[in-house]
Amino acid sequence: MEKVSYKEIGLINTREMFQKAMEGKYAIPAYNFNNMEQLQAIVMGCVESRSPFILQVSSGARKYANQTLLRFLAMGAVAMINDAGSPVRFALHLDHGDTFDLCKSCIDSGFSSVMIDGSHHAYEENIRLTKQVVEYAHAHEVTVEGELGVLAGIEDEVSAEKSTYTKPEEVEDFVGKTGVDSLAISIGTSHGAMKFKPEQCTRDDRGVLVPPPLRFDILEEIERRIPGFPIVLHGASSVVPAYVQMINEHGGKLKDAVGIPEEQLRRAAKSAVCKINIDSDGRLAMTAMIRKVFAEKPAEFDPRKYLGPARDELMKMIMHKNKEVLGSADRA
Ligand code: G3H
Ligand code: 13P
Ligand code: ZN
Repeated sequence: MEKVSYKEIGLINTREMFQKAMEGKYAIPAYNFNNMEQLQAIVMGCVESRSPFILQVSSGARKYANQTLLRFLAMGAVAMINDAGSPVRFALHLDHGDTFDLCKSCIDSGFSSVMIDGSHHAYEENIRLTKQVVEYAHAHEVTVEGELGVLAGIEDEVSAEKSTYTKPEEVEDFVGKTGVDSLAISIGTSHGAMKFKPEQCTRDDRGVLVPPPLRFDILEEIERRIPGFPIVLHGASSVVPAYVQMINEHGGKLKDAVGIPEEQLRRAAKSAVCKINIDSDGRLAMTAMIRKVFAEKPAEFDPRKYLGPARDELMKMIMHKNKEVLGSADRA
């Protein structure tokens, strides 16, 4: 594939975005996407709320969407924003890159930012791999996110207490040796829609599951050791209860779905957390609306008639997150 720089596409890296987010005490939303309707919703939602954003692509999403098409989708999004006369800029970011070759391939095909997730490797190997990616990325003015600590998920055979929280005593050494631009940490968030097992939660008066609180003490200790350094929160969907309910009321079966409460994300956004990753909530919003349309209009078979409402719902959700949770609205 022909090599292309993100600058030719009209994208930006995350450096200035994070600096402004740190100073302004808000977080940049990183929305995952893999199809056109999700892209439209993200772009329109961020233009409407005047929010900078990160368009995030996992390796699975890159395969799904086709890597060549993806580059032109990003180019199209830039043109769409310019046509709207909007000042909004965005970064195209690889989510959970696991090899040097994948990161290099993304950098060579127009990504402005990459994550190298070496968190499952031993510490020294994580440093070696991350440093290798940083050297190539920085030579192309691409920013790099590294990770220390492992997020627990319902799939893991570990309970939240046993999940590998980031060790604050490692962060200075890791950041110094690798040269990363931002650091993803583990303080109790988790990927997916079933973030916690019911036995890890308490219940409120109405019997609704309340997840264990995030470990803000660990975050504060990390901030103390690397002041002003951009921190990233993965697994930060709230698993919006209204969408879970809508899915279950229209034939779905999402049992014990629970996410990170909005107040905790608001608090994180005001700290050194400069990037908050959201994938599951977008999936839930679209699925909830598609199920509703299918249940209410069983004769409908024009994809625009169910993907359109799903796209509108996702746009609404994005505007809400930008305005009410991350504080990124009106920061473009
Ligand atoms: O953290 C992972 C993201 O939610 C991407 O998920 O690999 O299913 O695209 P995916
Ligand atoms: P959620 O599953 O909580 O949306 O997290 C997404 C994520 O961290 C992508 O890297
Ligand atoms: Zn993640």
